[in-house]
Amino acid sequence: MSLDGLYREIILDHYQNPRNRGVLEDADAASHGHNPLCGDEVDVFLKLRGSQIDAIGFTSRGCSISQATASMMTESVKGHTVQDAEAMVAAFKAMMLEGGTLDGRPEMADLEALQGVKQYPVRIKCALLPWNTLQDALDTYQARSGSA
Ligand code: FES
Repeated sequence: MSLDGLYREIILDHYQNPRNRGVLEDADAASHGHNPLCGDEVDVFLKLRGSQIDAIGFTSRGCSISQATASMMTESVKGHTVQDAEAMVAAFKAMMLEGGTLDGRPEMADLEALQGVKQYPVRIKCALLPWNTLQDALDTYQARSGSA
């Protein structure tokens, strides 16, 4: 299979079988994000133990790219620290916006499948929506816990 084909398979798999989809009722932090261009929405829920992300959930109403990205994102950051998650947000944005790579970040391997989306500038916002929403939830948590 070509690399493009493999990437398409990964995106389709996360879209059809989303990981960590659902509301976390007892979330320590949550955020709602939306893409003003299309009206699509994502909610991210975090359950933390100290600085570690114990559980993460998401709900979304949106396109396949935003939903698949949210699924991959939750798999990447679950079990990691808030600081690690913020570094992942930065690495993902650098890949989508500045030609960066995810080399050396095996926990983000599936997200490399979104490289192809960079050819379609309007879809970059679809891939960034869950990550911006996660960053917002992390900011909320840190502001509340006084560690910002
Ligand atoms: Fe709306 Fe992708 S078209 S987030």
